[in-house]
Amino acid sequence: MPDPKKLFIKTYGCQMNVYDSERMAEAMGGEGYVVTDRADDADMILLNTCHIREKAAEKVYSELGRLKPLKEARPDLRIGVAGCVAQAEGAEIIARQPLVDLVVGPQSYHRLPELARRAGQGARAVDTDFPEEDKFERLARPRAAHGPTAFLTVQEGCDKFCAFCVVPYTRGAEVSRPADRIEAEARALAAAGVRELTLLGQNVNAWHGRTEDGTEGGLAALIRRLAAIEGVERLRYTTSHPNDMDDALIAAHGEVPALMPYLHLPVQSGSDRILKAMNRKHTADAYLRLVERIRAARPDILLSSDFIVGFPGETDADFEDTLALVRAVGFGASFSFKYSPRPGTPAAERGNQVPAEVMDDRLQRLQALITSQQRAAQDGMVGRTVEVLFEKPGRLPGQMVGKSGHLHAVHVLAPEAIRGQIRPVRITESGPNSLGGEVAA
Ligand code: 5AD
Ligand code: SF4
Repeated sequence: MPDPKKLFIKTYGCQMNVYDSERMAEAMGGEGYVVTDRADDADMILLNTCHIREKAAEKVYSELGRLKPLKEARPDLRIGVAGCVAQAEGAEIIARQPLVDLVVGPQSYHRLPELARRAGQGARAVDTDFPEEDKFERLARPRAAHGPTAFLTVQEGCDKFCAFCVVPYTRGAEVSRPADRIEAEARALAAAGVRELTLLGQNVNAWHGRTEDGTEGGLAALIRRLAAIEGVERLRYTTSHPNDMDDALIAAHGEVPALMPYLHLPVQSGSDRILKAMNRKHTADAYLRLVERIRAARPDILLSSDFIVGFPGETDADFEDTLALVRAVGFGASFSFKYSPRPGTPAAERGNQVPAEVMDDRLQRLQALITSQQRAAQDGMVGRTVEVLFEKPGRLPGQMVGKSGHLHAVHVLAPEAIRGQIRPVRITESGPNSLGGEVAA
């Protein structure tokens, strides 16, 4: 047997890319590649890129520039660019950076082995199609598990066209994977020891498909079906759009014990004027009412959101509306970003861009508020006993780390044997980014 070839994948951006990188690694496994965590001894390097914010394409080009010495030392090294920058830039990448052998968009990963073979013969290959066939079906199955938690992509793409966002262009239209295939993948993962599944989609709560009795159903029906699988103890889903939170999904939060009490529900802004300019198709008040309904179903749920500060035309008053919304909701966590004009999106063409210093100042103020809410939510756990799914050893000797239902990292002193188990933990301390506690009897 020849030595296996080595594949190094560097993943940027969202969880969808993490999932895709694993699938690409499995597909290349069929070509005799094993994954390495060292770029310098790889036979193939893949950059799985993200295009959502800032100078994404420029960053990829400079990363590629840094690979030049490796390629010069080993001309057989194959270098590929995958992900959303690949989709957006396409053949331009090969034109600009001669060391790139292949470019593959997110909808074409099942064609990666074929592209790699062509690249191996010295042909430079580009595939950024949106093919008819289902890439998931063509990718390697059944999946290997890498621990007690796993991502599972159930939906891709977006039809919402928020004015700032590239996703509808890089990932294409909303597509739901069929329920039977999702269930088969979930069963295989559960059989391999996975206890917690996070269902992924750019608009995951827009998922729809045929449920067991043959009727059309939404994400709630899928969640109930997956919760019934032996071994699936916990379910999460991300990312959701407020307008797709239907009654059935809200009810599921109160009724399905496996559905964890944490929901990422981006609102982006608290100003109706800005929400309208963003083409979000909901108001701040509609979001607040939605939050009330979700909390009525699951009172202890922690909510998180994404925010953009400095969207074109955002005034001080608009920004104050965002702070007011944050205060009104009380988030368990949140992510905030400075607006970054993305080529090809409607907002990038607009005048009245907000000056950089103003954006910096708003971002700081928003992040300070978010951090204080995050701390309050975390500190509120001290003294409580929570269920923790243990995932891996911690930084200190004898330590194990896992996640609570509320997605807090929790560390305890415990034997490694509790890895993969869900145990009650009495929380005794709250640190900057994690909780500490003792495994309860
Ligand atoms: N500028 C800044 N933030 C953005 N996001 C998406 N597009 C942009 C942009 N052009 C943020 C949104 C989204 C998150 C994934 O990234 O808040 O929810
Ligand atoms: Fe982008 Fe809006 Fe679609 Fe989310 S809902 S992926 S922010 S266009």
